[in-house]
Amino acid sequence: MLQSDVPIPHEPISLDTLLETAIDASREAGALLLKYAGAGFHIEYKNPINLVTDADRAAEQCVIDRIKAHFPAHRFLAEERGRLEEEQSPYLWIIDPLDGTTNFAHGYPAYCVSIGLEYEGRCVLGAIFDPSRNELFTAIEHRGAQLNGRTIHVSDAMTLDSSLLVTGFAYDIRETPRNNLDHFAKFALKAQGLRRTGSAALDLCYVAAGRFDGFWEVRLNPWDMAAGSVIVREAGGRLTDFSGKDLSIYGQELVASNGQIHEAMLAVLNQETP
Ligand code: IPD
Ligand code: CA
Ligand code: CA
Repeated sequence: MLQSDVPIPHEPISLDTLLETAIDASREAGALLLKYAGAGFHIEYKNPINLVTDADRAAEQCVIDRIKAHFPAHRFLAEERGRLEEEQSPYLWIIDPLDGTTNFAHGYPAYCVSIGLEYEGRCVLGAIFDPSRNELFTAIEHRGAQLNGRTIHVSDAMTLDSSLLVTGFAYDIRETPRNNLDHFAKFALKAQGLRRTGSAALDLCYVAAGRFDGFWEVRLNPWDMAAGSVIVREAGGRLTDFSGKDLSIYGQELVASNGQIHEAMLAVLNQETP
């Protein structure tokens, strides 16, 4: 081996190469999900309303294997496997192999594979693939967001009256008063319309594409937000917690919007409950 062939640990890799790998992995895992949806799958229950299927696990393995084949020294945070931290690396892949498991299990075609990448603690790219609609949402930091290769942008709605909003509920909805029902009730009286789709990652993509004007949720996990947060930001949107501080994907609370209605959303979220 020539001296110049010695691998340099943690040499920066081009973001295009990294995104290409994320896209391939998300498409491959998405195809696997469709296969399970057609052939049948096995359901296990984490609690009476929180389920996981063998399709979740197979898709996760598929994504990790595909990325590891290219980048064996990278770190991973994946929903079903947790942290794979054997390596020291500035790269952390954050994976939700099947976002929208309840939808998937009911044959409701609103689910996706979500793959985000942090470099030195900053989310730098995301790829989210919806296999039922063949929609691939992607973004690289500072380079805009795309849907199937075409640039997307957040909406220009100016008021809640003219906004279609979306939210979701965590699986411990029955166990905690912080279950988002109070916010849901308030927004139902303020927005033009409200939706609950069952896939936080797609909700973020739809804000980025201008299909929704705003999205909020309490008690999300990093894998629900990592990829989608880059996509919203790159589509011109704003992301914060409920107090208006910049979003941390480790902070559970998320408000994502077209920017124009953000302050109005924060005002509703912070309104005293009568
Ligand atoms: C769930 C979905 C849902 C959101 C939940 C998430 P999963 O993820 O994103 O929309 O409301 O908070 O846990 O379990 O389908 O990957
Ligand atoms: Ca999820
Ligand atoms: Ca999941």
